[in-house]
Amino acid sequence: MSKKMSGVKSAVMVILMGLLGVLVEVEGLGVNWGTMASHKMDPKTVVQMMKDNGINKVKLFDAESSTMSALAGSGIEVMIAIPNDQLLAMNDYGRAKKFVQRNVTRYNFNGGVNIKYIAVGNEPFLKAYNGSFQKTTFPALQNIQNALNEAGVGNTIKATVPSNADVYGSPTDNPVPSAGRFRPDINDQMVQLVEFLAKNNAPFTVNIYPFLSLYGNDDFPIDFAFFDGAPQPVVDGGIQYTNVFDANYDTLVSALKAAGYGDMPIIVGEVGWPTDGDKNANINMAYRFYNGLLPRLLSNKGTPLRPGAIDVYLFGLIDEDAKSIAPGSFERHWGIFRYDGQPKFAMDIAGRGQNSLLVPAQNVRYQEKRWCQFNPDAKDLSKLGENINYACTFADCTPLGYGSSCNGLDANANASYAFNAYYQVQNQDEMACQFQGLAKVTTLNISTETCSFNIQIVGTYSSATRTSAYLFVYVVALVFLLL
Ligand SMILES: *[C@@H]1O[C@H](CO)[C@@H](O)[C@H](O)[C@H]1NC(C)=O
Ligand SMILES: *[C@@H]1O[C@H](CO)[C@@H](O)[C@H](O)[C@H]1NC(C)=O
Ligand SMILES: *[C@@H]1O[C@H](CO)[C@@H](O)[C@H](O)[C@H]1NC(C)=O
Ligand SMILES: *[C@@H]1O[C@H](CO)[C@@H](O)[C@H](O)[C@H]1NC(C)=O
Repeated sequence: MSKKMSGVKSAVMVILMGLLGVLVEVEGLGVNWGTMASHKMDPKTVVQMMKDNGINKVKLFDAESSTMSALAGSGIEVMIAIPNDQLLAMNDYGRAKKFVQRNVTRYNFNGGVNIKYIAVGNEPFLKAYNGSFQKTTFPALQNIQNALNEAGVGNTIKATVPSNADVYGSPTDNPVPSAGRFRPDINDQMVQLVEFLAKNNAPFTVNIYPFLSLYGNDDFPIDFAFFDGAPQPVVDGGIQYTNVFDANYDTLVSALKAAGYGDMPIIVGEVGWPTDGDKNANINMAYRFYNGLLPRLLSNKGTPLRPGAIDVYLFGLIDEDAKSIAPGSFERHWGIFRYDGQPKFAMDIAGRGQNSLLVPAQNVRYQEKRWCQFNPDAKDLSKLGENINYACTFADCTPLGYGSSCNGLDANANASYAFNAYYQVQNQDEMACQFQGLAKVTTLNISTETCSFNIQIVGTYSSATRTSAYLFVYVVALVFLLL
């Protein structure tokens, strides 16, 4: 074969591979990257951590520019998001177009961000929201997808609405998966939404939480939350369901079918298990959950009504110590990594073998090895409760609660936990370990076997404030010199 021929051939190959790159979905599991933490790791560190673990897909809760810059050029497929409180604004088409310009097409270049989806809202139809976003979600979805289409990127970038599984009611509303229907109070809207998604070849996104099926429902058969078999399967015609994940997913498949779109692609936007903050939230149960879920996902077996690969984003990547605990104390402990990028337990996220450990974040910097503890010499304890409350208002004390990792501490250690949590959030500021004489700093690690008294990392937030503090001192000095 002549040199010229092979040159043509390789050019064709390159073009073909380029086409394939556009057409073929990125394989593997995705993760949710939430950032409600008092100390955030550098976004670049987080992106490297994802790459080191073979994580090729990420779902965000906004389109924050430092996150986007860190993702640029990584090749990681990204779902950006519009928070619920922005939905009303996006009912204005001009505003939606601005969003697309500023947060989508701006990153759409070679070496930019590989945006694949826009999440319009986050569980906006959740019953607990009392319909607050019911009128604004669909117009926002339409505007965003139309703006994507107008910008010429609508073929590859799709808008979708991550919904809580409660859009098809509770399991008692759907006794068997094949009976799945959308919730009556929102059915018309869901049908409208699904029609619009179908017209644009966009997927339906649902969050499925076996943990929440169990949480606060002592009658729920615990084995049904996991994947290693349940003594009393749910029998639905000829199908036996032995886990709530499959049952839940197939309830959606049935609801979509009833709406006329039984083949609509489905994304599981969130699924996972928390490791603290509830009697059912711990490392052992999270390990059991993932150790069942991950091999099933990697096998591409699918569910009884939808055999084949399932598109999944795990919730979540990193613990978030500043997240609202309105739904429960477990909310701050969903990470497959701790706040500092350390893995919590073995899990086979990339098909590397059952007990493979996740690769920790590299080059994370910690504050000094210093803790704040209850001062045993303190005489007047009358203000102790008040001071603990204060600490726990501004720091995360959820591990102290019932069923949590630090629940067994005695009263003094309990106080120490709260004081230390606050001291660390305040970057070990000396003033943050006073508590009216009730606290003192120690260089002895006061962690116990089960309860970790953490030292915070040097996060991007604290270094930013330090820089501005230096800048301030510098400006003041300059003003003095000039006077
Ligand atoms: C782009 O995304 C950021 C971060 O989520 C958001 O604050 C901003 O309002 C968005 N820009 C526009 C023009 O909508
Ligand atoms: C929804 O209504 C309930 C009961 O009326 C109330 O307690 C709750 O705060 C409301 N939630 C929102 C988000 O408005
Ligand atoms: C420790 O603190 C938690 C949360 O503030 C509280 O519920 C618990 O009763 C305390 N335990 C002791 C022994 O003081
Ligand atoms: C403190 O001790 C705990 C429990 O032994 C350990 O896991 C942790 O790494 C220690 N912390 C530091 C900063 O040395």
